[in-house]
Amino acid sequence: MNHFLDIHKTDAADLRQIIDGARATKEARKGQPKGTPDADQPLKNHMVALIFEKPSTRTRVSFDLGVRQMGGQTMVLSGSEMQLGHGETIADTARVLSRYVDLIMMRTFEEQTLLEMAEFADVPVINSLTNRSHPCQIMADVMTFEEHRGPIAGKKVVWSGDGNNVFASFAHAAQRFDFDLTFTGPEPLDPEEALDGMYQVERDPFKAVDGADLVVTDTWVSMHDPQSARERRHNQLRGYQVNADLMAHAKPDALFMHCLPAHRNDEATSEVMDGPHSVIFDEAENRLHAQKAIMRWCVGG
Ligand code: CP
Repeated sequence: MNHFLDIHKTDAADLRQIIDGARATKEARKGQPKGTPDADQPLKNHMVALIFEKPSTRTRVSFDLGVRQMGGQTMVLSGSEMQLGHGETIADTARVLSRYVDLIMMRTFEEQTLLEMAEFADVPVINSLTNRSHPCQIMADVMTFEEHRGPIAGKKVVWSGDGNNVFASFAHAAQRFDFDLTFTGPEPLDPEEALDGMYQVERDPFKAVDGADLVVTDTWVSMHDPQSARERRHNQLRGYQVNADLMAHAKPDALFMHCLPAHRNDEATSEVMDGPHSVIFDEAENRLHAQKAIMRWCVGG
């Protein structure tokens, strides 16, 4: 069964097939209204459950639209409104949903919840964010980089800020797609130890971005972080803001990415987000195309 649980759990050849497939489908749809069905309908007669235990704009809309373009139907389920949030086990939920739907997409808090869903489901499960990773986002980001700059292999990617779940998927991708990844951020917000060896560390953000082909950041307070940590994190991360001065130390044609939603003028200035280096809205669009290719792979298309 083709679950899409994490980038490092998926073969490099399959990941490449997904990225190339996403680019081909995007190209084939160019200029068509968003509601036009794809010429190819790999999800025809398929029912897809989209489970959200956390808020979402991009993931919810892009998965829903993608399923429809591929000929399927969706059910959007909120964790708090399901019995899952009221004591029913994940294993039982997985077995029940497998009788109703052909594919499950899940956004949840604990990675263990996703893993149990995949273990007990008889249908493919897709990770659309846990506290530990965000693989669909980084598949879209790799696609976006390659659209603008060609193969990402051998390029220098620099992450500035919190070593969070989105960074973790970049670290997994660095290994699978063979690019160089540098983390710059304060030591208390280092990535989790399981990622050691997958990236370099440079505490000085200006030195870190020297020669960078891509500079990436993310919100300083993630959905699973307590709001009480907000002021402390702002103090810790202030020096790692991506602004015009920092971008000027990267390669002249460096790209800037942020998975959004952003807190403008905290982790990145509006000048950078709306400036010539920025591809943030291409990233958002490519969630749609990358996830369609992931779903196609999951159902064996
Ligand atoms: N980047 C991302 O996953 O956005 P949403 O939280 O809006 O889905």
